Amino acid sequence: MTSPVTSPATTAAGPADVSAPDPVPAPALTAVVDVDVPGPTISRHVYGHFAEHLGRCIYDGFWVGEDSEIENIGGIRADVVEALRAIAIPNLRWPGGCFADEYHWTDGIGPRRERPRMVNTHWGDVEENNHFGTHEFMALCELLGTEPYISGNVGSGTVKETSDWVEYLTRAGDSPMARLRGENGRQEPWNVTFFGIGNEPWGCGGNLTADQFSTLARQHATYARDHGKDRLYRVAAGGNEADYAWTEVLMKQLASGLGDPAPRDLYQAISFHYYTMSGSWMDKGSATEFTDREYWATMARAHRVGELIAGHAAVMDAYDPTKKVGLALDEWGTCWNVEPGTNPGFLHQQNTLRDALVAAVHFEAFHSHADRLRLANIAQTVNVLQSMVLTDGHRLVLTPTYHAFAMDVGHHDAAHLPVRPVGDVAQREADGRVVPTVTATASTKAGAVTVTAANLDPDAGATVELRLRGHGPLELGQASVLTAGDPREHNTAEEPERVAPVPFEGATWSGSTLRLELPPTSYVSLRLVG
Ligand code: AHR
Repeated sequence: MTSPVTSPATTAAGPADVSAPDPVPAPALTAVVDVDVPGPTISRHVYGHFAEHLGRCIYDGFWVGEDSEIENIGGIRADVVEALRAIAIPNLRWPGGCFADEYHWTDGIGPRRERPRMVNTHWGDVEENNHFGTHEFMALCELLGTEPYISGNVGSGTVKETSDWVEYLTRAGDSPMARLRGENGRQEPWNVTFFGIGNEPWGCGGNLTADQFSTLARQHATYARDHGKDRLYRVAAGGNEADYAWTEVLMKQLASGLGDPAPRDLYQAISFHYYTMSGSWMDKGSATEFTDREYWATMARAHRVGELIAGHAAVMDAYDPTKKVGLALDEWGTCWNVEPGTNPGFLHQQNTLRDALVAAVHFEAFHSHADRLRLANIAQTVNVLQSMVLTDGHRLVLTPTYHAFAMDVGHHDAAHLPVRPVGDVAQREADGRVVPTVTATASTKAGAVTVTAANLDPDAGATVELRLRGHGPLELGQASVLTAGDPREHNTAEEPERVAPVPFEGATWSGSTLRLELPPTSYVSLRLVG
């Protein structure tokens, strides 16, 4: 793709009059959207979240305890619940991450003061008192109206622990684990949607090879039984980034047809992880103070996610052409140097408009691969990495990324409408890659169309022209824009509204063409209603 270039106007009589007004620049993106040819459904679960026992995500984030002066519901922070309910979070992954592979679930049940303590060796070497355990997490999910995604311990746990935990969570009636749950105050089983088989087994989850892990995964997945009506969606931990070989080992095993039940039924998805940063793992870059070069390097790396999903999907296609097995990106998001003065093991970072645009780039990639990508979890929900909310004593700050998630709710479980470019898309070179500087994606549900579009360019506005065809009368409905004068802008407890959506006035509808005038570094969401 090359940048659109506007040629100087010429006439048959020769060069145009030099005094003529400047030609109107070509749109950064012109595209056709066939509303009558919907694509696959965008699972709401690609808008999933992640809460690990890491830094201030659980303690001082979700959980303040019943005796806290901060308003809480049985120890769970009320303002966090209220904020997250507003963005309809579809699932929440817990307890890790790396922490999951040293977590022994029986430590987190029973009277809180009697629960054993442990050292959180991965994250800050701090003591974990296990006050937030299974019952507290499931209560949180109920308050949020979200579906639980429990990560099992393959790295240091036993198959029996996996088996017992699933029984404890989901089995009704009379059984050892159901009785234990009852003794701890919960008679009815919970519904658990997702169950993770390990986490990063190639690293913190055991330093295993793909072959070693695939054997263990079969065992744990076998004993993560379906009890009663509960049907677990088991996610086998996959490789890092572009480790397609790992995916191939797991897919080969699933396709081999060995075992009873057939291995294909052992787990329903394979995951991978991908984080975005402007530097390297040793020096990831500052969250708030970055150069233009670092800004564009970030955008280039965010765009890589589409390539990675396509790479894993291609391997999966070879073994599973009907796309029965799902792909899960169950950790993604920005990773910056921690905020100065904070514990390096707590991964606490600020969140700017740049982070929201990284999210927008990911959302577009998720929609484009809706046929295979069934689950994704941004890391992490509160006070850690690319959070939705930051807490500061009694105060709660909504991040720009929170607003990007809010602006995408119309895409949840909607049918993807491919946006097919006509001609060139504006682009530039960054970090050794060619990077589109605008993105646009669309979906339809219940007769309405949701369109979201991002202009990544901090220096210039961008026009997006979408020619929608194959639909009845549509009218512009709710439209909002998230922008700020500078991509470094962010919200703080003192100034919580520096980056927040406002009504978008830059949409015009002429015939069946929707024209969007996007400000520099902006994210726009709009509804077209029939
Ligand atoms: O999200 C923080 C950590 O990043 C997770 O614990 C781990 O899985 C990943 O490396």
